[in-house]
Amino acid sequence: MDAVYQRCINPACAATCAVDQTTFVCPRCQGMVDVAYDWDRLSPPRSLRDFEAKWADRGNPLSFSGVWRFRELLPFAPPDQVLTIGEGQTILQRADGVAGYVGLEPGRLYLQYEGMNPSGSFKDNGMTAAFTHARLVGARRAACASTGNTSASLAVFCSVTGLMRAVIFIGSGKISYGKLAQALDHGALTVQIAGDFDDAMQRVQQVARRLGIYLVNSINPFRLEGQKTIMYRVLEGLRWEVPDWIVVPGGNLGNVSAFGKAFMELADLGLVRQLPRLAVINAAGANTFYHLYEQLGLRWNQGRPEATVITGYYKGLDDEQIRAATIASAIEINRPVNLPKALRALERCGGAVREVTDQDILDAKAKVGAGGFGCEPASAASVAGARKLRQEGVIAAGERVVCILTGHQLKDPTATVAYHSTDQKTFEEVLGRRGVRRATFANRAVQVPNDLDEIIKAIEVYS
Ligand code: F0G
Repeated sequence: MDAVYQRCINPACAATCAVDQTTFVCPRCQGMVDVAYDWDRLSPPRSLRDFEAKWADRGNPLSFSGVWRFRELLPFAPPDQVLTIGEGQTILQRADGVAGYVGLEPGRLYLQYEGMNPSGSFKDNGMTAAFTHARLVGARRAACASTGNTSASLAVFCSVTGLMRAVIFIGSGKISYGKLAQALDHGALTVQIAGDFDDAMQRVQQVARRLGIYLVNSINPFRLEGQKTIMYRVLEGLRWEVPDWIVVPGGNLGNVSAFGKAFMELADLGLVRQLPRLAVINAAGANTFYHLYEQLGLRWNQGRPEATVITGYYKGLDDEQIRAATIASAIEINRPVNLPKALRALERCGGAVREVTDQDILDAKAKVGAGGFGCEPASAASVAGARKLRQEGVIAAGERVVCILTGHQLKDPTATVAYHSTDQKTFEEVLGRRGVRRATFANRAVQVPNDLDEIIKAIEVYS
């Protein structure tokens, strides 16, 4: 067998297929697959500190990339085949102002700003890996369903490299303007479906199969290989120490699945001695994972999560015609495709799933903006969730917590402006209908006549 292959995630099945397969389902049981490595035949590092040598090699695009400088931990492609656009130059920031809001001691909260990627979200970490695989298998077209960030990322990779045509499926009226603008500007074929993300996700899988188009949603295990590196950069930012908690918003559950795989491999390779706990935060209007994990007790169960619990839950959603609905449009998802992998991640690392309201999300977002570089609504769910877990006493005040800020502040200016607006009508239209009652931390613009004295007076009063 090859040193790199794809393998069914169910240990009782564990069927394998070649690295160049693009169906992304188990050939025997139709379950999900991982990218698997025979580490004895590869050269993983002996210590995480070995990666520090890459810092002096930034002239090499592979060492400059925040993904590929860890290439020995995702060695599925020959280095000369790797496709990078300089992704992963992101920052782990200590954020004491936000720590106070969350209820943590100073120095205990860190924010991982993945919005600093070329397309403005964490997706570029995964896209560089999926794109590399797509090139390996000779794909000419790549498709995804998206709430806006995957599509923006795919569009940028296509426009920068000129190697593939992007085909994007979005729910109509479901993505923020910042993200739609990216898909259009970068020349992607943008298909707006009369439906939501869950509908688009089903359709893109059918279309990709029918037309042989390469699929880059996180059902693609190569995407998750790239997203593992978010955790490597967190460790790098903490001088290779493992934090107590990683808190991440949950949508399609690709990130938590990738983070779990990253830590499982690091532990198996003897590169870390302990694992962090993982907290996944749903929006209350799109809370399938919270329901299944915390309320219905669904567990990994050695690779066989109880299927009737899942199908019963989805049937209930259908019967009551419940659709996902949240201001955090990036995570407005009710049928997360990576559910089994997410259960596995929580089984191995331990952790919790919580839901937060749109009010919680927007207040947390304002705090992130006031205390750092800012983020889009979905990303702030992580901070709102950390605060909730802190209030419950699940996270202790002295524990070290890293919240992943998945997307850039400018992705969704509509929500931000409505929150800070003095105009009640704008507030109601964008936020009121979602149950947001207050802009607790609003920073309102000051209205002044076009008159020097009045302007000076206003500045003296307000500053
Ligand atoms: N945060 C942001 C900003 C996102 O765009 C997404 C997912 C998530 C969190 C959730 O991550 O799926 O790994 O749990 N956005 C996808 C998209 C669905 O189409 O852009 P997840």
